[in-house]
Amino acid sequence: MSVNYEKLVNACGYVRERAGCSPKIGIVLGSGLGGFAEEAEIISSVNYSDIPDFPRSTVEGHKGRFIFGKVSGVEVVMMQGRVHYYEGYPMEDVVMPTRLMGMLGVETLLLTNAAGGIDRSFKAGDIMLITDHIAAFVPNPLIGKNDDRLGVRFPDMSEVYDITLREKALAAASEHGTELKQGIYAQLTGPSYETPAEIRMLETIGASAVGMSTACEAIAARHMGLKVCGLSLISNMAAGINSTPLSHEEVQQAADDAAERFTALVKGFIGKLG
Ligand code: HPA
Repeated sequence: MSVNYEKLVNACGYVRERAGCSPKIGIVLGSGLGGFAEEAEIISSVNYSDIPDFPRSTVEGHKGRFIFGKVSGVEVVMMQGRVHYYEGYPMEDVVMPTRLMGMLGVETLLLTNAAGGIDRSFKAGDIMLITDHIAAFVPNPLIGKNDDRLGVRFPDMSEVYDITLREKALAAASEHGTELKQGIYAQLTGPSYETPAEIRMLETIGASAVGMSTACEAIAARHMGLKVCGLSLISNMAAGINSTPLSHEEVQQAADDAAERFTALVKGFIGKLG
């Protein structure tokens, strides 16, 4: 695995020509935030399927396009639908959309997702600000020959989730009267949900929530020097914490139920970045 720089430049050129603006802020819309794009004043959109050499999202509930527009008066590029490792793409392709946003000129990246709650003080519907992550259970997206044009061989990961951005997210939440939990996000490959034993392991090593995305994107973004912020919608309590079996429909439903609160929070947060 290694990044194909030329492929990236080519895909980026295709998107840039169609963007109609050059935003400094990128947002990855995870489950439950897909509808957020409707809140934006849309400038243009580019389907992943039209971009040369670009991976496509195959998951139900995940559309696949970049949307350029304004949110709270601020220019943003949004990813409506992301690509997951469990879809069968190599990690270098999974993080290609992240890298493309960096190459487009994005400096601040907000990553959102739906996640299973491990911290027993959480409940379904909570929103968690990601303070750190555990990505040691998935292949690192930087494995392979390093391309120095993108970043250094051994990038520091001591503050993946930027403290200033976290403060802004907390301020936006308190202004909107939304409680914001904080915690550590663990990425596993999926697509099967975890077993109760795996959740006990994750709890023991300090994870607050678990999901199948985000940390790998955060690593690629930090490799390129982007500032990163992460928000998880706790769509369900993780396996074994409640006695109910997990289903994608439940995750989707919880995400839909929380969409309004999540949207208001993200809008307020983006407003603070302008
Ligand atoms: N586990 C992993 N990923 C998830 C979950 C979960 O419980 N909920 C939403 N995404």
